[in-house]
Amino acid sequence: MDEWQVEYTEAVARRESSQAETVTANRGWWDREATDYLAEHGSFLGDCDLVWGPEGWTEEDLHVLGDPAALEGRTVLEFGAGGAQGGRWCASRGARIVSTDLSAGMLGTARTIDDRTDGPAPLLAQADATRLPFADASFDIVFSAYGATPFVADSAGLMVELARVLRPGGLLAFSTTHPVRWAFPDVPGPEGLTANASYFDERPYVEASWDEASYVEHHRTMGHRIAELVEAGLVLRAVHEPEWPQDNTEVWGGWSPLRGQHLPGTAIFVATRPA
Ligand SMILES: C[S@@+](CC[C@H](N)C(=O)[O-])C[C@H]1O[C@@H](n2cnc3c(N)ncnc32)[C@H](O)[C@@H]1O
Repeated sequence: MDEWQVEYTEAVARRESSQAETVTANRGWWDREATDYLAEHGSFLGDCDLVWGPEGWTEEDLHVLGDPAALEGRTVLEFGAGGAQGGRWCASRGARIVSTDLSAGMLGTARTIDDRTDGPAPLLAQADATRLPFADASFDIVFSAYGATPFVADSAGLMVELARVLRPGGLLAFSTTHPVRWAFPDVPGPEGLTANASYFDERPYVEASWDEASYVEHHRTMGHRIAELVEAGLVLRAVHEPEWPQDNTEVWGGWSPLRGQHLPGTAIFVATRPA
């Protein structure tokens, strides 16, 4: 290589990543990917539906948030909302809802969907879920399907922030990658069935260009996720590990029917703030 030539480096690593680096990287990544994400997953998610993960289970199926009829008039926050499909579903059930996301690009996809759909739409606001622009005890329900939780370094701080904006007696529910998946290659085929890493290694997965992080995903063991909820003053009510339904033939990244036969792909945590 000539002296003036510099080797271009794209790298993937398990290494530490601060909250600031993580947020900057992920805001940029989701801004760049927003349109493609909607094009790839929009029909699976529906415009007005709360799908909890790649297994395809909806809130109509699981009732994680309780009786859908009881959403009428409740104040609800969706964080890491993306296209706000879940928020739109809550609005259609009469909830007073704000859908928030770190990425202006992802909120742009929410506006795209709003433009093509009838019915009530959530209010939209750009916000990092670890620093929410809402007063204490503002919401009866706070939820997210795969938003923010895997994309922040300070997940303990995230739980404290979500607990802060919940009313006493309020409910928090969020889905995220099932912790056990971190021991396996994140691919949909048979090679994704053989553990090749430690479940206990909580260093995040970092993609970088020129050593500058462009995407960061964080892992917590099941025990640590539960501890973060408890330390935030919340009471754990349930951890759902939904099975892969036989009629779902879709592959979504590393989630596939094959892996779904053997491994949990999604964990849904449900907790309440004591009254
Ligand atoms: C996998 S998408 C899920 C979006 C949507 N809930 C869905 O089911 O399609 C993850 C979302 O989390 C958002 N996100 C990442 N970090 C965040 C943060 N710190 N605060 C709020 N949202 C964040 C991303 O911008 C993205 O929209």
